[in-house]
Amino acid sequence: MRDNRLLTCAKLVKGNKAVDVGTDHGYLAVYLVENGICSSVVACDINEKPLESARRTVSLAGLQDKIEVVQSDGLDNVNKDGVTDVIMAGMGGELIVKLIDKCGWLKDKERPVNLVLQAMTKSQTLRKWLYDNGFYITRELACRDKGYVYSVMQVEYTGVTPEYDDDGMYLYGGRIDIHDEIGYEYLKRQAQRLRKAGGGMMKSDDKKEYGEWLLHVADDLMRGDSDG
Ligand SMILES: C[S@@+](CC[C@H](N)C(=O)[O-])C[C@H]1O[C@@H](n2cnc3c(N)ncnc32)[C@H](O)[C@@H]1O
Repeated sequence: MRDNRLLTCAKLVKGNKAVDVGTDHGYLAVYLVENGICSSVVACDINEKPLESARRTVSLAGLQDKIEVVQSDGLDNVNKDGVTDVIMAGMGGELIVKLIDKCGWLKDKERPVNLVLQAMTKSQTLRKWLYDNGFYITRELACRDKGYVYSVMQVEYTGVTPEYDDDGMYLYGGRIDIHDEIGYEYLKRQAQRLRKAGGGMMKSDDKKEYGEWLLHVADDLMRGDSDG
């Protein structure tokens, strides 16, 4: 597998039994087993076409006995027994929130599941929801793939919701390390986006205050004083 984004997801999987939600082609599922990171994987998807593709990938790898391909909306049809990791990658931040929120067993402190989350859009919405709902980002890595820079989060449920101090750096920068070359690139791109959006808002009286806040967040991101 040459996909840096999925390789970064794999790096944050603890093992031993993972569920790959929205598996599509099933490449990550096969990689996790072939590389001894997991002894088994449930590869699930809501749509039939990706499921067919995943079945083909699994069968070509000869891993039908280790990878179960399941049709499921999020984790609805997944048996939680023995699951150590749940990966949700390549989906929008709002969809990831929805899928985590409706799965009760992801909020069990006695039986913690390692969540590996990679949002294609709205990472700040995902981080805010996690923060507000007792999920803690333990690690976050930036990666570059085909010209894009992504963030991948490793998350655990603690049940604790710290007082929210509206810290924009956390929402937009997460726990990305500015001293890492790709981490720096991620934060730089986030800051550029915020400067563009904030600059536009400064021109409108009713959005000026929010625009100003976004510009401050952009400056803070580049100062590297986010402690997550
Ligand atoms: C862009 S692909 C990402 C594939 C792979 N996870 C990756 O990161 O490369 C998104 C996949 O999520 C699936 N999907 C969308 N909504 C879903 C849901 N509610 N439950 C499970 N899978 C879903 C889609 O069918 C699609 O195969």
